[in-house]
Amino acid sequence: MERKIAVIKGDGIGPEIVNGALKVMNAISEKYGHKFIYEEILMGGASIDLHGEPLTDESLKKASNCDAILLGAIGGDATVSPWYKLEPSLRPEAGLLKLRKSLNLFANLRPSFLYDELKDACPLKEEIIDGGFDMVIMRELTGGLYFGDRETVLKDGEYVAHDNLVYSESEIRRIAKRAFDIAIKRNKKVTSVDKANVIDTSRLWRKVVEEVSKDYPEVELEHMLVDNCAMQLIKNPKQFDVILTENMFGDILSDEASMITGSIGMLSSASLRDDSFGMYEPSHGSAPDIAGKDMANPIATILSAAMMLRYSFDMEDEADSIENAVEKVLKDGYRTVDIMSDGKKRVSCSEMSELIADRI
Ligand code: NAD
Ligand code: IPM
Ligand code: MN
Repeated sequence: MERKIAVIKGDGIGPEIVNGALKVMNAISEKYGHKFIYEEILMGGASIDLHGEPLTDESLKKASNCDAILLGAIGGDATVSPWYKLEPSLRPEAGLLKLRKSLNLFANLRPSFLYDELKDACPLKEEIIDGGFDMVIMRELTGGLYFGDRETVLKDGEYVAHDNLVYSESEIRRIAKRAFDIAIKRNKKVTSVDKANVIDTSRLWRKVVEEVSKDYPEVELEHMLVDNCAMQLIKNPKQFDVILTENMFGDILSDEASMITGSIGMLSSASLRDDSFGMYEPSHGSAPDIAGKDMANPIATILSAAMMLRYSFDMEDEADSIENAVEKVLKDGYRTVDIMSDGKKRVSCSEMSELIADRI
């Protein structure tokens, strides 16, 4: 099969981890006889440096003409990078938000599970993670605080800022449906996370999720307040199957859910809409502190590529093959520094990618 993939390496560790994922994709194309055509596209700081803006309309069009997008990460260290002297709409993150919104990628899936092999890298106590955990966060990605009006104004001699948090019933309904559809194929439980004890968008969220749940009688629905959820993730991550939540809460909870897998370098993600097109990226950022050192963990990006094969290309065996190769490499004792523990073999980002590609 032939598939065209928009490849956005981005900034910081972005090029290192994407090159790693491409090694693995090439191994897949060789083994299964597929042709992957890579269309490289600039976004974030890399695009600002060349075009003065984080995502040009031409790049957006190019990306939307592909079958899927593979993204590394964008952005830099805001305290030192000149990109953050620009107005907010011209900074790296604005490119990513423009891409998500313009392509209507409203459903962001972030799976968090514990590999048996990574128990030593998990900061939780043994009795908490005994038997592992396996959850997926379904994060709404094109609404909420990220996309409401915002403004900073001078009022009575001081600056006052506001950010609008808006959700419509239809936005909530479509993401809730996706969460229940996934839960039906998993352990049939949805935990909808909100702040309904304080904010109106959460009260609407709860009402719409309740309505949607009526079409899924076999799926158990529970509601949880976001502060409690942050605590429960640490106390008892096994209780979760599908966590359904809005944009900002999902951003924060998914970083927390990543760390209990051993490292943020393990958490993949898929950003989906109603057709087969999708964007696949690790949940972590451009990690400026370790960029250019060949020490980043490429596994989140490699597992994101597996999600691309599964969700956008319907290549189930190929996706399994990547996931099995990752498991094998961990079983064989190879570790990047973020998941390193006693007695394991430390490898670089490029070595890890090579080792996974060898196991395809
Ligand atoms: P970050 O996720 O980049 O890094 C947080 C910490 O995790 C750092 O110590 C980093 O070294 C470590 N880390 C991250 N990925 C790793 C990996 N693959 N292997 C090993 N260690 C890893 O978060 P940050 O430092 O808050 O943000 C840095 C920049 O990234 C910011 O500009 C932010 O806006 C951007 N960002 C981009 C995306 C994206 O492109 N999707 C996501 C998150 C943050
Ligand atoms: C993520 C990132 C982005 C987000 C930033 C870079 C805009 O943190 O993908 O989790 O907040 O969605
Ligand atoms: Mn984030």
